[in-house]
Amino acid sequence: MVSAKGTKSHIHRIFCSVAQKFHSHQHYDAEKVERSKNIAGTSLRGKVAVITGSSKSIGAAIAKALAAEGANVIINYAKDGKSAEEVAQQINSASIASTSASISLPPTSTDVQKNGPNGVELPPQQQAVLIKADTSTISGGQYLLQETLRMFGRLDILILSAGLMGSKTLSEIDEPFFDAHFDSNVKAPLFLVKAAAEVMERPGGRIIFLSTSLTASSTLLPNTLCYVASKGAAEQIARVLAKDLGTKGFTVNTVAPGPVDTTLFRIGTPQHVIDSIAAQIPSHRIAEPEDIAPIVAFLASPAAQWVNGQILGVNGGYVV
Ligand SMILES: NC(=O)c1ccc[n+]([C@@H]2O[C@H](COP(=O)([O-])OP(=O)(O)OC[C@H]3O[C@@H](n4cnc5c(N)ncnc54)[C@H](OP(=O)(O)O)[C@@H]3O)[C@@H](O)[C@H]2O)c1
Repeated sequence: MVSAKGTKSHIHRIFCSVAQKFHSHQHYDAEKVERSKNIAGTSLRGKVAVITGSSKSIGAAIAKALAAEGANVIINYAKDGKSAEEVAQQINSASIASTSASISLPPTSTDVQKNGPNGVELPPQQQAVLIKADTSTISGGQYLLQETLRMFGRLDILILSAGLMGSKTLSEIDEPFFDAHFDSNVKAPLFLVKAAAEVMERPGGRIIFLSTSLTASSTLLPNTLCYVASKGAAEQIARVLAKDLGTKGFTVNTVAPGPVDTTLFRIGTPQHVIDSIAAQIPSHRIAEPEDIAPIVAFLASPAAQWVNGQILGVNGGYVV
């Protein structure tokens, strides 16, 4: 038989345990709210992003998308300085309009050259700057990184968009063709990531490789051999790096677009082939670079902190 005193203390114990649970739940909920506040953000204000190969096409669209979220962006190119200037100019005029750039900004490299080391004119502050560097070589990547740090003093986001897509079957390929693909798409990006990982802001660093839906497509053609093999290698590098650099608070992911209407895609692709590819996409069109860029911007954002080591197909349902 339970006494009145026993019942009281039993009720007290139940009350205390419920109260404890309630409080710890409250604490847990408060933490969850705080966390959700932190992870929900897609803003890139204060971040510095390098986008290799961003003077045109997908890279340029990515640079604009990151800049629209407030990031300071490095427009990298190898040959086409005029297009690179145009991309930077578009970003900088939008930035002046919205005053979205958030850290003390350096002059563009062109402005530095124009003014010279002893120039008296004050350089304009820019959200987008140009760096000419051949990212198919290790030394080009090192120069890109070194200049980024010189101008901004930090790096948060690295997008590896510059890539080479040649078209040769097994009987046609030779060693230089093979090497050019693996240098551009695998070796140089890997060593750029290695150097960047040493200096990137942590936690929160973001590394994103660009692959292709062809690595997962059964309709690929025999002449894609070196391109697909090298992009497949890049995908595997990204998966492994997610485990390695994940310990530093970075994420490493791959975005794999389907066909996108760019210089790379148009060169050597007859219109009837383009039409037949478009017919296989549910919305019957080839993607524009702007279909790809927001996904990259999202993965680069704090909101995507729990997406790591993934290969994200962005192909309008071309490959499912
Ligand atoms: N287009 C597609 O259908 C498609 C589909 C799936 C995946 N992708 C991938 O997406 C990425 C971008 O493709 P895209 O179609 O936008 O290419 P794109 O039209 O050929 O544009 C390439 C960009 O990269 C720059 N670039 C090329 N080589 C460079 C180098 N060695 N160093 C520095 N910059 C370099 C080019 O600038 P300069 O001309 O000034 O050198 C240009 O800004 C590639 O990795 C590609 O494999 C494309």
